[in-house]
Amino acid sequence: MPDNCQAGVKNILDFARAKREERPVVILTAYDALMARLLAASEVDAILVGDSAAMVVHGFPSTIHATVEMMAVHTAAVRRGAPAAVVIADMPFLSVRRGREEAVRSAGALMQAGATAVKIEGVAGHEDVISHLVESGIPVMGHLGLTPQSVHQFGGYRVQGRSADDAAQLRADARRLEETGALAVVLECVPAELAKNVTDDLAIPTIGIGAGADTDGQVLVLADLLGLDAGFRPRFARRYQEGHAEALAAVNAFVRDVRAARFPAREEMLA
Ligand code: KIV
Repeated sequence: MPDNCQAGVKNILDFARAKREERPVVILTAYDALMARLLAASEVDAILVGDSAAMVVHGFPSTIHATVEMMAVHTAAVRRGAPAAVVIADMPFLSVRRGREEAVRSAGALMQAGATAVKIEGVAGHEDVISHLVESGIPVMGHLGLTPQSVHQFGGYRVQGRSADDAAQLRADARRLEETGALAVVLECVPAELAKNVTDDLAIPTIGIGAGADTDGQVLVLADLLGLDAGFRPRFARRYQEGHAEALAAVNAFVRDVRAARFPAREEMLA
């Protein structure tokens, strides 16, 4: 990300290079220009405009509520905040299941909003759409394991690939994604050993979230890392800050200052 000149991934080709050179790829989510500016000043390799925006920003109970329009608004905001970053935008629920034309239209909208690539959950039944997007010049990142758009089919947010059959299927799906031309594969909530096997199988990088330490990179939701949601603490997401508690203390300090006539002070008053 040339904004800070420290990120190893400056374009899509750098994903494969990072794997060859054994440099871990680090991705965080952002949905708005403010957080994008923060990440652009950091050392992260790429920004994911995840459809988790539907939950984190819009308060929906799942990512099923994300739409192309919603994702395009967030992608454009992130692009404005991080003009030089590699920005990956999620293709929302069902947007790759209504045929090639609809998928091209949706992916095109996200690319025109500023995405460098799109991320697509699953592969079975839409591998032709993925390869068509890739052939059309739209870089695609895959996403396997606990793909949240299928939460109802999974019966909840559960670790995937635990049985031998499921693990074999996931490995086959990952190879299929590589064959379709995907630039990398997110592995979400799968056993660490399976993630390692997939990582060893592929020439493209695997990016883990709740998938152990042997993937080629890691992705987290920024709000989880910053501890912004007091009530949400997934085991796999390390908190680097108690953001909710710190922000709450700041807000209440302001309220108390106003009530005690300590704000504004003389130097904060405009002439
Ligand atoms: O939507 C999202 O934030 C994601 C990550 C959790 C990988 O897809």
